Amino acid sequence: MVSYKDLGLVNTREMFAKAVAGGYAIPAFNFNNMEQLQAIIQASAETKSPVILQVSKGARNYANKTLLRYMAQGAVEYAKELGWENPQIVLHLDHGDSFETCKSCVDLGFSSVMIDASSLPYEENIALTKKVVDYAHQFDVTVEAELGVLAGVEDEVSAAESHYTKPEEVIDFATRTGCDSLAISIGTSHGAYKFTREQCTVDPKTGRLVPPPLAFDVLHEIEKKLPGFPIVLHGSSSVPQEYVDEINALGGKLPDAVGIPEEQLREASKSAVCKINIDSDSRLAMTAAIRRVFHDKPGEFDPRKYLGPARDEMKKLYMHKIINVLGSDGKAE
Ligand code: 13P
Repeated sequence: MVSYKDLGLVNTREMFAKAVAGGYAIPAFNFNNMEQLQAIIQASAETKSPVILQVSKGARNYANKTLLRYMAQGAVEYAKELGWENPQIVLHLDHGDSFETCKSCVDLGFSSVMIDASSLPYEENIALTKKVVDYAHQFDVTVEAELGVLAGVEDEVSAAESHYTKPEEVIDFATRTGCDSLAISIGTSHGAYKFTREQCTVDPKTGRLVPPPLAFDVLHEIEKKLPGFPIVLHGSSSVPQEYVDEINALGGKLPDAVGIPEEQLREASKSAVCKINIDSDSRLAMTAAIRRVFHDKPGEFDPRKYLGPARDEMKKLYMHKIINVLGSDGKAE
């Protein structure tokens, strides 16, 4: 048994309470490799933003969960080396799919876990979430649960259609499970293809797809039912069109990739939404930067010469999200 407290990590409790009260959101960035982690920590240290490092099932299969945990431990020391005296870093399991997965992460030093039982019938979602909460809370590990279904594909989590969270269920769910935060479905979606062409309108000036707006009415209903309770948005990449265009111009093929407009995420951050999940945007930044190097310097074969620029591009993206979208800069001085 390893306690996250011995690794210098923190859970989400205090961080979320401050974010809800302060009208900003904490970035939850997924990581799979060293360059991504370096970029996240550099951006967080430079802006003094609390940060959540997320590990998905795909990341655990790709990189190994023990290795990722040691990388997160290293990240705390790295952050201090960069001059961030009091780093506020959470190591979070993204989309835990069973009690056993959540337990093994708690035992391994994660400070926060998500149990995603949203595809189960309501009562089964409650029972499984409560079981995880009862275990995790013994070790002061915080638990995120999910109610409602997001569309889209993310690693091994996928659903064809979304179902908005029902505001009439949230009080019962939060009370009976004891979860610390709740991921809700209000129209965000996983991946780089969040909406079909048919779901969007077309901006006549630019010809770009315009996605349907988020269901702020549902969010506000939920806030009214659970005042001050931490709300989480998954599937919140904006799919920057500059990256999509660059990737496509340099031989890639990402037709109709479209995300959540940043103004809407900015608005959500001011509400009880206190954690915003971003993964796809970092993948796009990395891919665009690597394609750029391969295009400009076809003779390049030193991975540091293309992963380095990819790291710089991801750092730029993370800083932009922290400062201009979520407003979490300076909140972990
Ligand atoms: P995106 O695919 O929109 O980046 O969402 C990531 C996410 O929700 C991780 O859980």
